Amino acid sequence: DRSIKIAPSILSADFANFGAECAAIEAQGCDWVHVDVMDGHFVPNITFGPATCAAIRPHIRGVMDVHLMIAPVDPYIEAFARAGADIITAHAEAGPHIHRTLQAIRGAGAKAGLALNPGTPAAMAAPLLDMVDLVCVMTVNPGFGGQKFIHSQVEKVAELRAMIGDRDIHIEIDGGVDPETAPLVAAAGADVLVAGSAVFKGGSVHDPAPYGANIRAI
Ligand code: DX5
Ligand code: ZN
Repeated sequence: DRSIKIAPSILSADFANFGAECAAIEAQGCDWVHVDVMDGHFVPNITFGPATCAAIRPHIRGVMDVHLMIAPVDPYIEAFARAGADIITAHAEAGPHIHRTLQAIRGAGAKAGLALNPGTPAAMAAPLLDMVDLVCVMTVNPGFGGQKFIHSQVEKVAELRAMIGDRDIHIEIDGGVDPETAPLVAAAGADVLVAGSAVFKGGSVHDPAPYGANIRAI
């Protein structure tokens, strides 16, 4: 099913009300909840860890899509799987043994995602297509929400879609997705669109209606 799914990133949500914000975006019609884990080492920002993922899990009825912007990854996979992550995405650049990391994610019972930074070629995914359920194309340099979409990545999306063929692998786009950039990546073959600032702008956990309008606009 290649219909487009919207996965709001809670990086742009109210950090004092994650549970309520997750419930609000689901009530407003999102498909997945994208959870950005940052360690201040792999990326120049720190967000939260497995405990926060476990705390928000009961507030998410659908898919909890955990994006690990951490290095090393392997020591923490079990904890994020136990916290209830449905998908655990690791960065190809996070260490020397990405194949082993993907094996460990599936071994822990989660679906495995491979994230590629803007400087990493699509070819990096070629040896791993039997190890992933999702490839996440970063269309910003990871670490922050509200950044400008990097247009050179659209070609990488098309390359990946051609490489993937009829395998059941999602192509997720992450960073700078809004009503203007979404059509570009959807046309290139993406089927899951992460959006943080574009979804959470203009609303709040007390007034979530704008979230629904923002989701529908993408
Ligand atoms: C960036 C994160 C993205 C980010 C998207 O490192 O991985 O998920 O939250 O935020 P926007 O949609 O505002 O670019
Ligand atoms: Zn992300």
